[in-house]
Amino acid sequence: MKASIRRRYGSPHQIKIEIIEKPIPKDNEVLIKVYATTVNRTDCANLTAKPFIMRFVLGLFKPRKIILGTDFAGEVVSMGKDVASFYIGNKVFGFNHTGSESQAEYMTTTVENLFPIPEKIDYKHAAASLEGANYAYTFIHKVNIQSGQKILIIGATGGIGSALLQFVRQFDVKITATCNTKNIELIQSLGADKIYDYTKQDFTEVKDKYDFIFDSVGKSTFGKCKSLLKEKGVYISSELGPYSQNLFYPLLTSFSGKKVIFPIPYSKQKTIPYISNLLEKERFKPVIDREYLLEDISKAYEYVIKGQKTGNVLINV
Ligand SMILES: NC(=O)c1ccc[n+]([C@@H]2O[C@H](COP(=O)([O-])OP(=O)(O)OC[C@H]3O[C@@H](n4cnc5c(N)ncnc54)[C@H](OP(=O)(O)O)[C@@H]3O)[C@@H](O)[C@H]2O)c1
Repeated sequence: MKASIRRRYGSPHQIKIEIIEKPIPKDNEVLIKVYATTVNRTDCANLTAKPFIMRFVLGLFKPRKIILGTDFAGEVVSMGKDVASFYIGNKVFGFNHTGSESQAEYMTTTVENLFPIPEKIDYKHAAASLEGANYAYTFIHKVNIQSGQKILIIGATGGIGSALLQFVRQFDVKITATCNTKNIELIQSLGADKIYDYTKQDFTEVKDKYDFIFDSVGKSTFGKCKSLLKEKGVYISSELGPYSQNLFYPLLTSFSGKKVIFPIPYSKQKTIPYISNLLEKERFKPVIDREYLLEDISKAYEYVIKGQKTGNVLINV
């Protein structure tokens, strides 16, 4: 089978498409023919081993898993003898933060990583609804969103932000979002009530007050946003912050009115059923920016690593 392989950490140039043996599922595993995967920011961190802390998970000196890929959507083609809950021909999707080895024609995984793709949803949209949306789910479930509240989403155009905006839209709240000029229409169509074009305006200069600030691209800080929070407002960021301060702020702010929460992701057993339900009801449609063939995957990495994709970048396997 063809697979996207890197044997050392580094840049997209490390990635080669190689022909290797198709994996054989163990007794408790399923073999999946992959139809679609994405290149997301976790994949970029897995490729580059940046931040350094990634090496404690992926392998200190070189990656333990040589095939890249986090999100996947495909079809069950065979299974080990202990698997009873899935059948040949089932359409499945899922992700694994530490790598699914899904940027390949086939992959194996255990059943707890597999979820049925909702009817009417194709492989591409299934693959684009996974890890970024999982973080978006985490953001909204770390707080108690109430009708009438005001929420600011910084970077509503990213993989996380574009899902987050649609998830927050499920509540009766006022949403302000930041994005660049070219994405204003998109963000309006996804449900933002008020928009700041971050290339022209600084949202911190306007003294609006919010119940929650979701910094979905991690480009701002609690320090900059604090004055925009209401008395019991909460700031959540997808990044650690320039001094990794978002790791410590939750403790430091735990006794004060305005709080910082670190969004440790919920398990996919919680998030994927929620996402599937919204997909089925057509209340969530993942944003797809570009599509590449597996053979061109290093170009996809070059693009995603710049941090300027809109929504998700798909790989058609
Ligand atoms: N799997 C994941 O998605 C994942 C997992 C863990 C952590 N994270 C972290 O979470 C952050 C967001 O991830 P993501 O996948 O959503 O990122 P992404 O899709 O790469 O985000 C790119 C988007 O952010 C926008 N943006 C860049 N600078 C901005 C600014 N100053 N204000 C507002 N928008 C801005 C970009 O707009 P322009 O085109 O104008 O630049 C672009 O649309 C990243 O830092 C990532 O490392 C992501």
